[in-house]
Amino acid sequence: MSWALITGGSKGLGYSIAEALGGRGYDILLLARNKEDLVSAKHRLESNWSIQVETFSIDLSLPGSAEEIGSWCRTQAFEIKILCNVAGLGGAKDFLSLPLSDLIRMVSVNFESPMSLTLSLIPILQKNAPSFILNVGSLAGFAPIPAKNIYSATKSALLFFSYSLRCQLKEKNISVSCLCPGPIFTKPAVEKETRKKLGWLGSQMAVEPARVGEMAVRNTLKRKMLIIPGRLSTLISFVLRVMPARLLARIFSESIRGDEKKRESQRKQTDQT
Ligand SMILES: NC(=O)c1ccc[n+]([C@@H]2O[C@H](COP(=O)([O-])OP(=O)(O)OC[C@H]3O[C@@H](n4cnc5c(N)ncnc54)[C@H](OP(=O)(O)O)[C@@H]3O)[C@@H](O)[C@H]2O)c1
Repeated sequence: MSWALITGGSKGLGYSIAEALGGRGYDILLLARNKEDLVSAKHRLESNWSIQVETFSIDLSLPGSAEEIGSWCRTQAFEIKILCNVAGLGGAKDFLSLPLSDLIRMVSVNFESPMSLTLSLIPILQKNAPSFILNVGSLAGFAPIPAKNIYSATKSALLFFSYSLRCQLKEKNISVSCLCPGPIFTKPAVEKETRKKLGWLGSQMAVEPARVGEMAVRNTLKRKMLIIPGRLSTLISFVLRVMPARLLARIFSESIRGDEKKRESQRKQTDQT
């Protein structure tokens, strides 16, 4: 039996990745905090595919979580062939508007956890080689975005980690991929924020969670390093990669200031009428 471990597999993109792996006959280990969501995801997957699904409730932001997961996998002798680091935190608020504890949690879940879990599971992946690691970054990882300072910084770190790790693990026959999607409407809050910040462009860039999950799994198994769903996001990622970081930060910063001014003047107009 070949197992795939998915952090953040109970909901959103992680669940879509689980569906795509389930359809290919992989047994699945789902990890997240909320036990009811995990059990509901397990039931849905087991009724859709003839596979085995096991769940593990854990907070990935806590120190020692990766070692705990590694020890569970070794004790249960799960033959893991695919590690999917999907869990991640973002949102409308970031540096200068969130308390330090929330920012540290974002760094832990978005970067520290994939890094530690990868280290903890390399021996199992090596034993089951050829094997695969899929890290979920973001299009935001290609640019310094002041309004999403820590989010874009952690996703950028995950992308660079993936590039280097791919070379380091080549000899062990473990392939590393990094998915860098634009908007995916996994929940109403993401859709609202995308439409507010990116307007028409955001809705054109958005790709269905199921399509992203399918594309991520197909390309991970094809050993592709960089996976960017959607033509528009692919084009934007190219532009972001060739532009100087200093200029990008200024452009994002000015566009946000412009949006804030527009909203302020609309608010004043409404107050006057
Ligand atoms: N949605 C987008 O537009 C978008 C775009 C680009 C990149 N991404 C990336 O894609 C990934 C998934 O995003 P999503 O929109 O699918 O997120 P989501 O719907 O909020 O799902 C997040 C998953 O991670 C789990 N999780 C969150 N914090 C956790 C923690 N501390 N410990 C353990 N599990 C935790 C959640 O379960 P519990 O809450 O039960 O723990 C849930 O299963 C993230 O890395 C995100 O940065 C998303």
